[in-house]
Amino acid sequence: MSEQPCDSSAPTLFTWEFATDPYPAYAWLRDHAPVHRTTLPSGVDAWLVTRYADAKKALADPRLSKNPQRHSAAAHAKGKVGIPGERSAELMTHLLNIDPPDHTRLRRLVSKAFTPGRVAEFAPRVRTLTDQLIDAFEERGEADLIHEFAFPLPIYAICDLLGVPREDQDDLRDWAGMMIRHGSGPRGGVARAVKRIRGYLAELIHRKRGDLGEDLISGLIRASDHGEHLTENEAAAMCFVLLFAGFETTINLIGNGVYALLRNPEQRAQMQRAVEEGDERLLAAGVEELLRYDGPVEIATWRFATEPLTLAGQRIAEGEPVLVVLAAADRDPERFAAPDVLDLARRDNQHLGYGHGIHYCLGAPLARLEARTAIGTLLRRLPGLRLAADPEDLRWRGGLIMRGLRTLPVTWNST
Ligand code: HEM
Repeated sequence: MSEQPCDSSAPTLFTWEFATDPYPAYAWLRDHAPVHRTTLPSGVDAWLVTRYADAKKALADPRLSKNPQRHSAAAHAKGKVGIPGERSAELMTHLLNIDPPDHTRLRRLVSKAFTPGRVAEFAPRVRTLTDQLIDAFEERGEADLIHEFAFPLPIYAICDLLGVPREDQDDLRDWAGMMIRHGSGPRGGVARAVKRIRGYLAELIHRKRGDLGEDLISGLIRASDHGEHLTENEAAAMCFVLLFAGFETTINLIGNGVYALLRNPEQRAQMQRAVEEGDERLLAAGVEELLRYDGPVEIATWRFATEPLTLAGQRIAEGEPVLVVLAAADRDPERFAAPDVLDLARRDNQHLGYGHGIHYCLGAPLARLEARTAIGTLLRRLPGLRLAADPEDLRWRGGLIMRGLRTLPVTWNST
């Protein structure tokens, strides 16, 4: 590791208080140590990049590889870098773990199948799913919005889009649930869940190959670029990353977003009006601001220096991990006026919540569709929605990459 002056006033990261509100610590880092070396809870040392301008540069820097094999301590960190349990060679070859030219080829192929047009056609299905979930608890007058709403919506949506038969979707929901509980649960459970998902996807892809339909998996199998197709392993890894990258993120966007609205009554009233008046523009802008203000992806996925480099004056040695802290960059006062204020009508809101550069979120159109539908429908159907817990009692899921609530108890006046 390169040298960094030790500063005893540096905040302690990755504690329970930090998970609840990491923003004061990030403000300190932006001001005093914008490229900061730290030891992660897993024991791996990594650099944290917290300023917006540096973060944007780092996300687009070709000297920062996504391939975990480039980690200088890969042998020691086995199992500590990447998705826990996801160490089978087949599933590792997905977009978030590879560099050009492989990344360019796979992303081009998947982009032919996973188009904004396909997502737009899916809008009525997302509306139906959203309404069905609300129907199930509306009369009760109370619910846990994470478990009963934000959790099932994205998994059923992506399963439908991929073409997973309805009768299998609850299995995938349960396996995906096991994966995201890894922060508090045994790692063995994650490995088992990944193994089941892998086995299931391999079998499903094989079956679809013999009977192509209109779903996304069939689209992935059909997609070709200059005569090239995805192999079965590549298609399985692609489905896996679509499931994994689009699941906890969307849960957190809905959960963090609704929570932020409930904590900011004036902004919530503005959003409520927009929804009731059908002001799609404000709803869309509001969801972008919720993403900037308390986005689902706190830290972008791993990057590794392929050569010695200097970032904001800090020397980084070959093989060292660099973590771009999107949550810190999106609260940088150099880029956003009054960054700690939720302002749904904020202009020029070029946040980094979906990343930047060649790994920019492939699922952003779907995430936007789901979040606008979920938050809009919730406010329209349950206008009296309010928090049913003391914010101090709410717990945040402790993972390195994602930021989200474990539960979100709410109530409303059922009529
Ligand atoms: C990549 C955020 C939803 C699929 C990313 C990245 C971010 C992100 C920050 C870049 C990571 C990096 O550079 O290290 C989000 C947020 C979401 C969301 C905030 C929801 C609110 C989705 C959905 C899907 C999806 C719904 C698909 C169904 C992907 C994929 C990548 C990606 C495949 C990798 C792209 C590549 O490496 O070329 N996402 N995402 N995401 N996201 Fe999303």
